[in-house]
Amino acid sequence: MPQEYRLILKYADQPGYTSDLDCYLRHGGYEVLRKSLALPPKVLSDGRNISAQEQIRDEVMKSGLRGRGGAGFSCGLKWSFVDRKSGKPIYLICNADESEPGTFKDKQILYKDPHQLLEGMIISCFANDVHLAYLYIRGEFVEGARILNRALAEARAKNFLGKSILGRGYDLEIYVHRGAGAYICGEETGLIESLEGKRAYPRIKPPYFPAVLGLYLCPTIVNNVETLCAVKHIVAMGGAEFAKLGTPNNTGTRIVSISGHVKKPGYYEVEVGKATLGELINDPAFGGGLRDGRKLKAVIPGGSSAKVFKAGEKFKLKRKAPDGQMTTVEVDLLDLPYDFDTIQQAGSMSGSGAIIVMDDTTDIAEALDNIAEFYAHESCGQCTPCREGSLWMAKALHRLTHGHGRQQDADYLLHIAKNIQGRTICAFGEACAWPVLSFVNKFKDEFEAKGAADERRRSGSSGAGPTHEMKIAASPLT
Ligand SMILES: Cc1cc2nc3c(=O)[nH]c(=O)nc-3n(C[C@H](O)[C@H](O)[C@H](O)COP(=O)(O)O)c2cc1C
Ligand code: SF4
Repeated sequence: MPQEYRLILKYADQPGYTSDLDCYLRHGGYEVLRKSLALPPKVLSDGRNISAQEQIRDEVMKSGLRGRGGAGFSCGLKWSFVDRKSGKPIYLICNADESEPGTFKDKQILYKDPHQLLEGMIISCFANDVHLAYLYIRGEFVEGARILNRALAEARAKNFLGKSILGRGYDLEIYVHRGAGAYICGEETGLIESLEGKRAYPRIKPPYFPAVLGLYLCPTIVNNVETLCAVKHIVAMGGAEFAKLGTPNNTGTRIVSISGHVKKPGYYEVEVGKATLGELINDPAFGGGLRDGRKLKAVIPGGSSAKVFKAGEKFKLKRKAPDGQMTTVEVDLLDLPYDFDTIQQAGSMSGSGAIIVMDDTTDIAEALDNIAEFYAHESCGQCTPCREGSLWMAKALHRLTHGHGRQQDADYLLHIAKNIQGRTICAFGEACAWPVLSFVNKFKDEFEAKGAADERRRSGSSGAGPTHEMKIAASPLT
C-alpha cells in the first residue's frame, strides 16, 4: 500500500522541531549549501570545464523536477531559458502567494521549516548567478512573513546570506515582500508587477517571459516554495537519485492538500504517481475515506481551477506496453495514478496538488457558484472576456442557486465559458472557465433541473408569468 514519503516535510511535524535556526542546524541544516558553494569545477570527458553553478543546474535538469506551483513545467528547462548574456542582473523570486483555493502545502513549509526554503533558495540563486532575490508571500500569511523575516535575520547573522557567504566570495540578499491579498498576485507576471509596486496586472507573453524580461525587465526566475525546497534535496542526493523517486517524467515527491468530505483532510507528501487518486481519498494513510454512509459525487484534482471529475468516470489513457508499443487502456477515476501526465490525459490537471472531495450531499450548482464567485471577485479586469465573463457566470450561478434560474442557464454558462478560455492575457481566463465548463458539462442534468424547477415555480406561483423583478433577475446581463 502506498505510504507517505516525507522528504521536504521530513522534520516539519516532528515533536520538538521548531522554525529557528539552531534547530535547523541540529538537523543538518545548511550543509547542502556549504557543499554547493565548495563544489570544485568539473572537467567533463570531452575536456569541457563546468563551474559549480553549471553542475547544480545540470543536476536539477537530470532530476526531472517539475514546478510545484501549478503548471508542472520542468524546473531545469525554465532555468535554461534564463538570458545569461544580457549583462543585466538576474533575479529570483520565490512564489509564496499560495492562493489557489484548496491548496495549503507551502504554508506548512513557510511556517514550520523556513530555513529549508531559504537553503533551497540560496542554492538556486547561487546556481543561477543571482545576487538579489525576493520572497513574495501572500498578505494573509501575516505570521508566515514574521517567521521568514526572523529566519532571514538568523541566516544573515551566520553568514548564510549577505557578503561572501561562508567565506566563498558569493554575495546574496533576500527580502520578504508581502502581497496585498489578491489571487492574481500568484500569477508570475502579475506578481512581478506587484513587486515593482504596481497593480498586479499580468503581462502579455510574449514578449514578457520572465526568464528574459521579468522583474525591472531583467531576466527573472519565478519558482514555487516547494520547487525551491526540492532543489536542496536534488543537490544533496544528486539528480539521478531524485529521479528514482516517483515515476518516469513525474519524479520526486509532492505535497498533496486533501480537503472536503473526507475523514482526514490534510497535507500528505507522496512520491509522484505512486498513489492513485482513490488511494489518496480513501486510504487510512491519507484522506481516510468519505464520511460514514456517504458516496463520492465529484473530485477536483488540482485546486479550484482544475476541471472536475465525476464519480464513476472512466478514461482512455495511452500507455507504453512492455514491448514499447503504445496501447490504450481504460482506467477508472479512482485508479488514476496521481501524477502530472495522467491527470492531464484524463482531461484535467494536478495543478497545485489540491484534491477537493465532494460527497453525495453536495449541491453541485452551489459548489460551482462558490468557485465562480471567487473568480469574479479576483479577475484583475484587464481583459474583457475575463472581467465581464467571470461576472456574468457568477451572476447566472447566483440566480440559479437563489430560486431565479432558467433551464437554459446551463447552455448560457457554457457559452460564456467557451468565449473566455484562450482569449485572455493570462491563464486566469482558463482558471475561471474550466470549472464552469466541466461542472456544467458533467452535471448538466442537475443545472437544467434546477433552472426548470425555478421556472415552473415562477410561472405557477402567480399564474401570470414572472414578475418584473424576476425578469430582471433572470436576464443574462444582470
Ligand atoms: C491565476 C494564477 C494564480 C497562480 N497562483 C500561484 C500561487 O499562488 N503560487 C504559485 O507558486 N504559483 C502560482 N501560479 C503559477 C505561477 O504563475 C508560476 O507558474 C509558478 O510560480 C512557477 O513556479 P514553479 O515553476 O516552481 O511551479 C499561478 C498561476 C496563475 C495563472
Ligand atoms: S485573464 Fe483575467 S486575470 Fe488574467 S490578465 Fe486578463 S483580466 Fe486579468
